[in-house]
Amino acid sequence: MQTIKDKYKDYFKGKKYNITTFGCQMNEHDSERISYILEDLGYEKTDDRDQADFILFNTCLVRENAELKLYGQVSSLKRLKKENPDKIISVSGCMMQTSTAREVIVNNHDEVDLIFGTKNINSLPDLIYKYLESGERVVDISSDDVKDDFVKYNNKNDFQAYVNIMRGCDNFCSYCIVPQSRGREESRRPSAILAECENLVKDGFKEITLLGQNVNSYGNKADFNMTFPQLLEKISQIPGLKRLRFTTSHPKDLSDELIEVMKNNDNICKFFHLPLQSGSSKVLKDMNRKYDQEKYIERAKKLKREIPELALSTDIIVGYPTETEEDFQETLKVCREVGFDQAYTFKYSPRPKTRAAKLEPIDETIVQDRFDRLLDTIYPIFNEKNKEYIGKTVEVLLESVSKNNPQVLTGRTDSFKLVHVKADKSLIGQFVKVKITDNTSFTISGDLVE
Ligand code: 5AD
Ligand code: SF4
Repeated sequence: MQTIKDKYKDYFKGKKYNITTFGCQMNEHDSERISYILEDLGYEKTDDRDQADFILFNTCLVRENAELKLYGQVSSLKRLKKENPDKIISVSGCMMQTSTAREVIVNNHDEVDLIFGTKNINSLPDLIYKYLESGERVVDISSDDVKDDFVKYNNKNDFQAYVNIMRGCDNFCSYCIVPQSRGREESRRPSAILAECENLVKDGFKEITLLGQNVNSYGNKADFNMTFPQLLEKISQIPGLKRLRFTTSHPKDLSDELIEVMKNNDNICKFFHLPLQSGSSKVLKDMNRKYDQEKYIERAKKLKREIPELALSTDIIVGYPTETEEDFQETLKVCREVGFDQAYTFKYSPRPKTRAAKLEPIDETIVQDRFDRLLDTIYPIFNEKNKEYIGKTVEVLLESVSKNNPQVLTGRTDSFKLVHVKADKSLIGQFVKVKITDNTSFTISGDLVE
């Protein structure tokens, strides 16, 4: 009997796909999985969205502007879909996991043919067949991914890979919509993760980044006995793995054990992303972060004391509804005292059905003013931190050609500093030594050392 797969065997030949990804590395990694599945069907990748036969938006809803941008981009395809009804327009990701955002697409965007979520990526071929068979829009956000399955994915290049170690989040920070979209925390089995990492190293990958919403609680609810530091150490011992990174770490349960493991294993990168969110203990309590200013500073200082070459990065939200000027001053104080190497800064954005959404927001002009003053405080600190690299020779993994200058390559140090260096693009994917001569608040640059 002819299967549905046989029926559409030739359908995808010569057809192209294009994916636009919003949001975090978790979402980027989901797009890598989707890309593998589409290529397995027969689609080829194109960077030109208008030329694509399958157009996908993999969405984020952590802040409202990502959401609004998505609606705009989807609307702009209305005409394209009318002129070429055979094109398949699809929306996936975190936004589709919440009913409010999904309904906006379902009710207002007829041009969208296929909607799926973050937990049924594996079923994408079946959803596409269903659409092709019926010609009717398909909406399916069921959760049928096996959490330990041997996942296959394309990588952004052949030397850096993301590996999921867990999904979901149980923390319920009062401003955050992620627990609603990605669901409860689940850890993958260590054996599945290790096998995946071993295969990557065998395939020549030099750098692995472990992904989870809160890696420090890895294994907490699982039926196996393994903490995050133990897992990290095991992976770092895979022969041939040059660099191991991870993200994201919640300050409330950053353990001494983790600091020790980082310190004792050379290939674990000396970079730590430790989201602060606010420097005020009162606001942290309102945010349900479960640590206070003192605990944050203690953890950050211990990290730096134990691993002096470590670079520290953070996330900061300005204008949480209960934040006063005094609270904001506490955030500036922590920034000065800790001395971050980099920070992702956000204006608070109310998200539907979160606890904070019930609170009266602060006037936008006040928030903007605080945001500007935050940047005025932290940019000079970043600059100082980067200046410390001048005169030093650092090892850099070259990643890509600079967008602004085709003769310049960009790469990262172990400490995640973005490096610009004049070099031939044949060196992409290689480790090189660079003598640093210059810096800005966001980059360091210099010359190749032979
Ligand atoms: N408003 C602003 N920023 C937010 N983040 C998460 N939720 C919100 C929100 N509602 C930020 C946090 C988090 C990062 C991924 O996004 O700083 O660490
Ligand atoms: Fe990532 Fe959260 Fe955005 Fe989802 S909502 S893409 S988990 S940042």
